[in-house]
Parts: sequence; C-alpha cells; structure tokens
Amino acid sequence: MGSQIGMACALAGYQVNVQDVSADSLTRAESTLRGLMERRVEKGRITAEEVADAFARLSFTTELDAVATEADLVIEAAVENLPVKQEIFRRLDALCPERTILASNSSSFVPSRIAEATQRPDRVINIHFFNPALVMKCVEVVRGPQTSAETLAAAVALVETLDKVPVVMQKEINGFIANRILDAIRTEAVFLLEGGYASITDIDVACRTALGHPKGPFELQDMTGLDIGYASKQGRFEESGDPAEAPSRSLSERVAAGHLGRKTGQGWYRYDTHGNLIGEA
Ligand SMILES: NC(=O)c1ccc[n+]([C@@H]2O[C@H](COP(=O)([O-])OP(=O)(O)OC[C@H]3O[C@@H](n4cnc5c(N)ncnc54)[C@H](O)[C@@H]3O)[C@@H](O)[C@H]2O)c1
Repeated sequence: MGSQIGMACALAGYQVNVQDVSADSLTRAESTLRGLMERRVEKGRITAEEVADAFARLSFTTELDAVATEADLVIEAAVENLPVKQEIFRRLDALCPERTILASNSSSFVPSRIAEATQRPDRVINIHFFNPALVMKCVEVVRGPQTSAETLAAAVALVETLDKVPVVMQKEINGFIANRILDAIRTEAVFLLEGGYASITDIDVACRTALGHPKGPFELQDMTGLDIGYASKQGRFEESGDPAEAPSRSLSERVAAGHLGRKTGQGWYRYDTHGNLIGEA
C-alpha cells in the first residue's frame, strides 16, 4: 500500500520518500512499481517520460530520520498494529516540523488512538486508500475529535490533486464506511460457509453475478490479505467487547496457519507460483 500511495503522489507531482524498516520490502516495492508503470506505458495510458519524471521524484530509504525532518505530510502505511503505529507517530512527532500533517492509512484504527502518541492531535488524520491504491478512486478521509478544519481541508485537497474521490467521515468510527459495509457482507458470507449452506466459490459467484460486485468477499480478501481482515475484526472486537465482532473461526484458523491470501499462495483459495487460481483451499 505504502509504495503505491507514494507512486500516486509522485505521479501527481509531489516529491516523495518511501520509507520502510525493511530494505527487501523497498527493493520489491520499487520493482513492482516499475513493472506496473511499464504496463501502463505499453497500454498508452501514460508516456514513458511522465513515468521517468515521477520516478525522479520518488526515493526509497530505510532512514526515517533523514526524510521526516523535511516532510509537509507523512502518510504512514506500516503493519496494522496499533502499538507499532503509535511508536511511529511518536517518532514522527519528534522529528517532523511543527507544520507537518501526520496521516495514517490504517484500515481500522481511528485517528484519536494514533494521535494519542503525539503532541499534535489537531494535525493527525486518517487518509485511507483502497487496494490497489494506484487504481482505486475512493479515499476515506477520517477526522478525529481533535483534528482541525485546516488539516481536514488539506487532506481533502491532497486527495483531489491525486485525481481521486475523497469521502469525509466527520465523526470517527472503527472500520470507517466501506469496510464496515464490506464487513457485514463478509460476516454473512462466513455464516453461510461455516453452516455448510454454500461453498466459497458459489458465495463469491453469487456476489459477482447477482449483486454485481466486481469480486466476491472471499476472493477480495485473498487479494487484500487475511491478516489485514483479521486485525481489523480483532480491533473492532477489542474496542466493543461484542463477541459478534470477533474474527470468525475459519478466518482465525487460516491466519494462524499463515494462509494470508495471494501473498502467501493460499488463503480462502490456493494459487500457483504465478498467482493463477488452483481451487478452494
Ligand atoms: N492491504 C490492503 O488492502 C489495505 C487497504 C487499505 C489500507 N491498508 C492499510 O495499510 C497499512 C499497510 O498494509 P499493507 O497491506 O501494505 O501491509 P504489508 O504488510 O504488505 O506492508 C507493511 C510494510 O510496513 C513495513 N513496516 C513494518 N514496521 C514498520 C515501521 N516501524 N516503519 C516503517 N515500515 C514498517 C513492513 O516492512 C512492510 O513492508 C495497514 O495499516 C493497512 O491497514 C491496507
């Protein structure tokens, strides 16, 4: 997510530093981006020159200190783990200039929980992109109770310059808009699966062909990552204490076994080494 958000910003003309603790992740991210952009050039959607210009604005580094000190905006997209995010925001708060807006791409954690780690809750906000960030138009901009009107306006303006569509949450709630609605669909899909009412494939087919969804709930979660879905269910469960919000048995078992979706070759479905679908797992 982080590298695609960075690329989207670089394509829009911003100077971007993509930072990760893992040098391997950065190498993989850059080569994936180069492949994606090459295909766009081949399809005539963008010129080779525009791509070269965007890459000239994009740098990859493991050194947070060096790049944070000059950032106007940071969009954090590290693992979906609240203590990790809070630690990153604590460091950013100390390193970044006073003007810097600190945003999170978290799929579930509300800005007020992340802002707790900083002395600037008025400049903390969620700018939540959807996967794949280079393609998906919708971006949820979520303000916390202390987020200022200026920060909200700056985040909305940024999203618009990326040629994306901002939707604003005026009041924070875990999971935001789209994922809360998706979660209700997933909960019903897992109920039908665990009750033996229908197969993974048939539930996905019904959602695609009867409801017009581009992807069924299981195939979509294989793409976005079962660990991400698990973490967001767990986060909501911990916040509400409502067992109905806890991750399902079938999701928990897969995550515990390391079957996280396409990225591990198996999730709800199995995939070969080229990413082609083999069948249900
Ligand atoms: N996957 C999705 O569909 C999706 C969609 C929207 C939002 N998000 C959100 O984006 C964030 C990242 O998700 P992802 O799917 O890209 O995860 P990922 O696991 O693919 O990538 C996370 C990256 O963060 C890096 N990282 C870990 N700790 C770090 C630290 N302290 N500092 C810097 N980098 C660190 C890891 O090395 C890894 O490269 C999460 O908050 C998630 O909720 C994900």
